[in-house]
Amino acid sequence: MWETLQSKARAVKARRMIDLFDDRRAQEFSINAENLLFDYSKTNIDTETRRDLIALAQEAGWAQKRDAMFAGEAINITERRAVLHTALRRASGPLVVDGQDVMEGVLATRHAMLRFAEKVRTGMFQGQGGKITDVVNIGIGGSDLGPVMAVQALHPYADGPNTHFVSNVDGAHVHDVLSGLNPETTLVVVASKTFTTIETMTNAQTAYDWMAQAVPNPADQFAALSSAEEKTSAFGIAPERVFGFEDWVGGRYSMWGPIGFSIAISIGSFNFRAFLNGAEAMDNHFTTAPDLENLPLMLALIGIWHAQCCGFETRAVLPYEQRLLRLPAYLQQLEMESNGKSVQMNGEPVDVGSGPIVWGEPGTNGQHAFYQLIHQGTRVIPCEFMVAKEGHEPHLAHQHQLLQANCLAQSEALMLGRDFETAKHIAQAKGFEGDELDRQAKHRVFAGNRPSTTLIYPQLTPYVLGQIIALYEHRVFVEGVILGINSFDQWGVELGKELATALGPILSGQIDPSDKDGSTQQLVAHLKS
Ligand code: F6P
Repeated sequence: MWETLQSKARAVKARRMIDLFDDRRAQEFSINAENLLFDYSKTNIDTETRRDLIALAQEAGWAQKRDAMFAGEAINITERRAVLHTALRRASGPLVVDGQDVMEGVLATRHAMLRFAEKVRTGMFQGQGGKITDVVNIGIGGSDLGPVMAVQALHPYADGPNTHFVSNVDGAHVHDVLSGLNPETTLVVVASKTFTTIETMTNAQTAYDWMAQAVPNPADQFAALSSAEEKTSAFGIAPERVFGFEDWVGGRYSMWGPIGFSIAISIGSFNFRAFLNGAEAMDNHFTTAPDLENLPLMLALIGIWHAQCCGFETRAVLPYEQRLLRLPAYLQQLEMESNGKSVQMNGEPVDVGSGPIVWGEPGTNGQHAFYQLIHQGTRVIPCEFMVAKEGHEPHLAHQHQLLQANCLAQSEALMLGRDFETAKHIAQAKGFEGDELDRQAKHRVFAGNRPSTTLIYPQLTPYVLGQIIALYEHRVFVEGVILGINSFDQWGVELGKELATALGPILSGQIDPSDKDGSTQQLVAHLKS
């Protein structure tokens, strides 16, 4: 099927997408799932291609593998684990895995975590200087990106203490965050599944020292979101403020459970549950919708078509929603840590290319930065637009309309482009003539025929955010299945960690760098000079 699809991609390369449109295309190449409209008609996918793409997914056994994931089978084969982040957002049980109802633990931990969040929010849990005014989440990767993104996205619902995030081992990060806070009314939350991540543990120690200068019992103003109980208690954090999760939750899939504590602090448990409900609704859609109407499946197939069949190496995620500023960064980890791999489950190489490079920025800001390249650069970059029907600022509805107009204009411009004749008229109107007219016109030509999809959601509520994130999680899963990749390990981050550990003593002068390559030796020498 790969060959069929790749030769189809070559065959339709010059076909104008606009010529595919008849009365029905927009509707037939869209999915209405619950409250979401996903329009993929502005792609070069026709009925036959779509059928072949679905066949490709079926050949890969996507539905069986999906069911295996939801049932708690150990599909993460390199770490010999189940993949059950979907359990973290279920409203109720049972979910029996290996003879045990895993929902009992999930629901008990959720209850305890949300209870503690409410105690902090209401002032029932106090700092040594009174009511907690600020919560600092110290974590990195999956223990940071999701909560940062969601807290920002759901700002209109924020009515709890201020939340802050420290991730980078660069001392500037922890310094800048803590220097604006009062330790007596700050709760520090160390978010680390393993409780060994060097960045997080270094920042946690710095925060502890900062706290110790101001309060008699610094550990009393610490909580932990971690599975490593022995390590959290060695750090001095009382067990009632430690919220753990099972090893079947991967870091980048973990914000639905205890790692979402800072989200719950910010928006409260009612809204946090709505966030989970939205994700669970997407899970239900993913597990029950027929292939043609299955949103995560189709989003994945469009991704496969563009990256593996057409050879477009990157994709841009362009939310027309300022509060989704950190969505692209979040999706970078979700997609690239999951599918940025060159070995298949069976040990064979991934011969059609790994998952694509994901990047983006909210519109309209991106329009004034990199859209030039999207429209007129030599590479085709499939764009994924998203926009809300309604904003949260009814008094600024005219601005929201302008935002929507810009979003729709971009996908239209990408598809239609502007031909030489039209460009010539424009240049003529500016007063150019003769050779200069042609030259000027060439700069104003847009090749067009560039694919994009548009997702319209009602409003960026906690429920809708849950839906969108679960949609992308499942898209990554299906793409991984089709590529034969294990989307749930991350061996690619290990080597750099090991070498950084070895370079520490070299930089501090304890060890001689002579066994390092010439470039590394030179860089070390320069840093130490
Ligand atoms: O970067 C690798 C990684 O393992 C991510 O997958 C994970 O989200 C992050 O580090 C943080 O891990 P932990 O929560 O154990 O500190």
